[in-house]
Amino acid sequence: MNRPIGIFDSGVGGLTVLTSLRKQLPQENIIYIGDNLHCPYGNKTKEQLLSYTKRICRYFISQNVKMIVLACNTTSANVLNELQTLFPDVPIVGVIHSTVHDFLVREKKDVLVIATHATIQSHKYREMIEKYNQQINVFELETPQLVPLIESGEYKNGISSVLNEYLLKYKDKIDSLILGCTHYPIVLDQIVEVLGDKAYISSSDAISQEVYSYLKVHDKLNNDFKQSSIRIYTTGDIDEFVYSSSDFFDYNHLKVEHLVL
Ligand code: DGL
Repeated sequence: MNRPIGIFDSGVGGLTVLTSLRKQLPQENIIYIGDNLHCPYGNKTKEQLLSYTKRICRYFISQNVKMIVLACNTTSANVLNELQTLFPDVPIVGVIHSTVHDFLVREKKDVLVIATHATIQSHKYREMIEKYNQQINVFELETPQLVPLIESGEYKNGISSVLNEYLLKYKDKIDSLILGCTHYPIVLDQIVEVLGDKAYISSSDAISQEVYSYLKVHDKLNNDFKQSSIRIYTTGDIDEFVYSSSDFFDYNHLKVEHLVL
């Protein structure tokens, strides 16, 4: 039960998932990997994504994880099934199911999904929403400039012109927005400034409930409430990782280490 949970993303975006997991499951031991060496994932092919993520999963398995969380929509949309088939002995979950469920319970009618190129091209959000309810109007939009602006830290100076360009035309057409990339909650305040009062559904919040339920049902929750351990790795540059994330992620005494996979 005290085995760690492995979480990964292409970079700092998955820290938004880590934040919500820490809140929901403070006693769990966690290993986080930001694969900054290959960031962004959103413009990569399925073959590339599979090759990066296989290496990450192998590392997690070598660390005896009890579960792997794809804190990344791009890989959840494109390689989740393949990873589950390749590594049948460890439960692997993605973020899209739980996000769609979180959206559906709100009973909205006109939703915009923003995500990376590879997520939008997979049409996973549209397919899953329409499977449950064909009356919902789903708009899909690739927003490829956002991850580089977030990873570089440029978002701290404000990115309203980019967000206006992407989003303003949808303002009167939608009642809800799915943040279909785990990087996007980092700029949620700036998005709200453009779109105003809508239902905002974040894949980063939705997944922690699913992880909790899975561990509880399978009797795998860590009952040892001593100080939990959180290890954070990047395959890229440590200083850049900390610079782009320190405004929104509470490091407290955690530090980031470099990992070669
Ligand atoms: N944060 C990831 C996602 O949820 C990856 C974004 C990227 O690297 O392009 O899709």
